[in-house]
Amino acid sequence: MDARQLGRTDLELSPIGLGSWQFSQGVGMSGSFWPSIDQETITSVTGAALNGGISWFDTAEGHGRGRSEQTLAAALSALGVRPGSVVVATKWWPFLRTARSIGSTIGKRLAFLSPYPIDLYQVHQPWSFSPIPVQMREMAQLVRAKHIRAVGVSNFSARQMEEAHAALAAEGIPLASNQVRFNLLDRRIEENGVLDTARRLGVTVIAWSPLAQGMLTGRFHDDPGLASRLPRSRRFMNGITPARLAVTAPLIGTLKAIAKAHSVTPSQVALAWTVSFHGDVVVAIPGASKPAQAEQSAAAMRLRLSSREMADIDEASKRCAASG
Ligand SMILES: NC(=O)c1ccc[n+]([C@@H]2O[C@H](COP(=O)([O-])OP(=O)(O)OC[C@H]3O[C@@H](n4cnc5c(N)ncnc54)[C@H](OP(=O)(O)O)[C@@H]3O)[C@@H](O)[C@H]2O)c1
Repeated sequence: MDARQLGRTDLELSPIGLGSWQFSQGVGMSGSFWPSIDQETITSVTGAALNGGISWFDTAEGHGRGRSEQTLAAALSALGVRPGSVVVATKWWPFLRTARSIGSTIGKRLAFLSPYPIDLYQVHQPWSFSPIPVQMREMAQLVRAKHIRAVGVSNFSARQMEEAHAALAAEGIPLASNQVRFNLLDRRIEENGVLDTARRLGVTVIAWSPLAQGMLTGRFHDDPGLASRLPRSRRFMNGITPARLAVTAPLIGTLKAIAKAHSVTPSQVALAWTVSFHGDVVVAIPGASKPAQAEQSAAAMRLRLSSREMADIDEASKRCAASG
C-alpha cells in the first residue's frame, strides 16, 4: 500500500502506524491497562514495526503519564533511528485543564520524546475546561514556534471537528486528523458524521483499537479461557464476554476463511479492511506487546483484498452489529 498524506499537511504516513499505549510500563491508571513490558521488548516491537515498513508512531501524555513517549524515544534511539526520519504523533491530555497547559507542558513532551520532534500534536479528548477555538489557538502558537508540525484531535464528534477545523483555518493551519475508535466491531463513525466530515474537510481518520484489543485476531474465540484472564478494564472496554464472543464468531469465521485464502492471519485481514474499505481517508494504529504482533500488523500493508472479500467482511461485520 502506498504512503498517505496526513490530512492536508506535507506529512506522509504508512497506512498502518504503531500505537504505543502498550509501552506505558504500568504507570498511572491508563498504564495499568496493559501488562508492563521491559524496554528491551519495547525496542524489539518498535524495530519489528520499522522493519515491516511502518513509518510512524502514536503515543500520548495520557499513556502512563508520558512513560510511553519516553520508552518509544528510547527504542527509536537504541535502533539508531535518525530524528526526522519517522513521524511521531503524541497528544495533550485535557482533563481538568485549560488550554493554557498546552503551552506550559509542551517542553515536557519535547523532552520526553527527545531527540525526536513532535510531528503531529493531538488534543486527546474534547474534555478541556477551555472552548475548542481557544485550544486550537494555543496549538497554532506551537506550530508557529516550530514546536510541532501539525495539529490533530482525538475522539471529537463531527461538530467538534468542524469547530476545530474552522478555528485552525483562521490561523492558516489545516486540521490534520481525528483519532477515533474504528474497527469491524465499532463502526459508529460511519453513522455519526465523523467519517463524512473528515472526508469533506480533508482530515485523516486515525483508527484506534483497530483490532478491538485482540477480539479481531480470533484468539479469544479460539480460547475463551484467555478472555476470562484479561483485566476487567479490557474486558469491559471491548465487551469481551462469552455472549459477545458467540455473536462475533461468524465475523471471525469470515476473517479466518479470507485469511486462509491469502496465507495470512485474521488480524491482518481486519487491518487491511480497516485501511482500505473507505479509501485513503482511514489509517490505523494497532498496538503490540510482542515483536511478532508488530511484524504481522506491518505485513497487513502488503495484503490486497478483492472487492468481493471487502464486501463479505462488511456484511459479516454489519450482521454481527445487528445481532447485538
Ligand atoms: N486516542 C485515544 O483515545 C486512544 C484510545 C485507545 C487507544 N489509542 C491508541 O491506539 C492504539 C491501538 O489501540 P489498542 O491498543 O487499544 O487496541 P488494538 O490495537 O486493537 O489491540 C492491541 C492489542 O491486540 C493484541 N494484538 C495485536 N496484534 C496481535 C496479533 N497479531 N495477534 C494476536 N494479538 C494481537 C495485543 O494484545 P496483547 O498485548 O494482550 O497480546 C495488542 O496489545 C494504542 O496503542 C494507542 O496508541 C488511542
